Amino acid sequence: MVRNEIKSLIEQAIKQLQKQKKLAKFDIPEILVEHPENRAYGDYSTNIALQIAKTIKKNPKEIAEAIKSKIQNPNYSKSNPKSKIQILEKIEIAGPGFINFFVSKEFLQKQIADVLRQGDKFGSSKTGKGKTVVIDYSSPNIAKAFGIGHLRSTIIGQSLYNIYKFLGWKTIGDNHLGDWGTQFGKLIYQIKEKKVFLKDLTIEKLEKLYIEFHREAEKNPEMEKQARAWFQKLEARDKEAKKIWQDCRAISLKEFQKIYNLLGIKIDYTIGESFYKDMAKDIIAEAIEKKVAIQSQGAIIIKYKKDKFPPVIILKSDKATTYLARDLAAVKYRISRWHPNLFIYEVGADQYLFLRQLFLAVEFLGWEKKEKFIHVVHGLVRRKQGKFSTRKGETIHLEDVLKEAVKRAREIIEKSETSKGFSKKEKEKIAKMVGIGAIKYNDLSQHYSKDIIFNWEKVLNLKGNSGPYLQYTITRCQSVIKKSKVQPRSLQKADFELFDFKKEEENILKTIYKFPEIVQESADKFSPNLLCNFAFDLAQKYNHFYNICPIIQAESIKEKEFRLALTAATSQVLKNCLNLLGISAPEKM
Ligand code: ARG
Repeated sequence: MVRNEIKSLIEQAIKQLQKQKKLAKFDIPEILVEHPENRAYGDYSTNIALQIAKTIKKNPKEIAEAIKSKIQNPNYSKSNPKSKIQILEKIEIAGPGFINFFVSKEFLQKQIADVLRQGDKFGSSKTGKGKTVVIDYSSPNIAKAFGIGHLRSTIIGQSLYNIYKFLGWKTIGDNHLGDWGTQFGKLIYQIKEKKVFLKDLTIEKLEKLYIEFHREAEKNPEMEKQARAWFQKLEARDKEAKKIWQDCRAISLKEFQKIYNLLGIKIDYTIGESFYKDMAKDIIAEAIEKKVAIQSQGAIIIKYKKDKFPPVIILKSDKATTYLARDLAAVKYRISRWHPNLFIYEVGADQYLFLRQLFLAVEFLGWEKKEKFIHVVHGLVRRKQGKFSTRKGETIHLEDVLKEAVKRAREIIEKSETSKGFSKKEKEKIAKMVGIGAIKYNDLSQHYSKDIIFNWEKVLNLKGNSGPYLQYTITRCQSVIKKSKVQPRSLQKADFELFDFKKEEENILKTIYKFPEIVQESADKFSPNLLCNFAFDLAQKYNHFYNICPIIQAESIKEKEFRLALTAATSQVLKNCLNLLGISAPEKM
């Protein structure tokens, strides 16, 4: 990654200057190296001299000049050790003391060869080597429909998983299924009371039973008592209670699996809350012993004095464990099993406070620093007309939304010119990739914290910032290469020595080399939307180039090969992006 190289060159230069007493001693601040908006200011720019000037009260321009004089032009030799090239073309000082770096044309061109040689590994790195991340995502609740919030968690969580893996982390995906809690006492009560046959149960039916319970219990408080008794039986491993619970779980998992299949998602582990029910009791004992938890009105609670959070119950007065107690047990289990360096929770904003309480409790217990715990707080999904969430009684069937996406994609494909001659099976496969890809991209392309406005036209817009637009651009690249009859492998040499790039070509080159940086940044900021921005930008630049510059009909063979290599590299980088987003790229569409 060039940015890191430039950072370390600046750092070395400063250290040298300090050693030679040309600069006073000070602690080097964080060196920020940005891509300036205006190309006239180079490809990278830093304000480090201005920062230092403030500390040591010296003219920033002089500092900038001194740093510049010490910077060695680094070599770039990854693609071919024999032909070393210099990464930087020039360094300039501008304004009050900015240092601007211009990358060389040779370097830009060598990147293309690198992309083609590294293929689907281009952009990956080993920055995560030796580190482990646990990603808690999807996590629907059994006996309830898979909500639109769970869909967001699934899509974003999976993308983060892919990104961290690409950076060399050991990644553990854990679907923290909501399969335990007092609500199951209510369900069992209903099933018994209403004499529901287990074989007739569906998620909708279960949801209805749950809603009815609350309606009826308002008038009949006795029901709450009985439900609690059923949950106690369940916790005490009563055979009948357990059988009903198991059936509810199995029915739900089967439904969820349909959605995961449609999405093409497989999560490493589905451990679920029920797994932690006994461990939770030990954790509660540990919390009492460490004086993290105290008795309060018959319950056990954790209090947060300094931090202004309300207290949370970990053991209810009827001795039932709580959601937080089971989450604590899950943390302890994850620590002992995987020793993670990072814990990511992809969960909606409604659990913001809850997760703060959890992370702080972990710190109180002395297990881990809370800084290792990240809550990726996703926003809501809304419809143009209003909310798109599960309200009382008004359930949205996610499976229907996904199927609708495939149906709409199918209609687009039926109408398209390029899909003429495709077999029915082929069309079906493409419709699925396009429809599901569109839903995923719609979600991922906006910052996770933002609410999404769901709009079918936008989701499937072939001309705008959408999944299908990117997929279409890839197939366009593929078809150019196919038409050229040039072997893609032969483009890997990419020794074109053609340096007066056209503006449209340079725009592509100056995007592609940033890909590894973007991957790293999207991991650091837990933001797959940065990859989407990047991919959309690259696709637009390519399509512009495609409209202006003849490729197969280029003026010289050299130029033709160069443009084909650009095409192949664009296609590869876009594919790598989509891979990280969990979106498939069809060969044609
Ligand atoms: N099952 C929960 C819900 O749907 C989400 C679980 C999130 N993960 C966790 N470790 N608490 O609200």
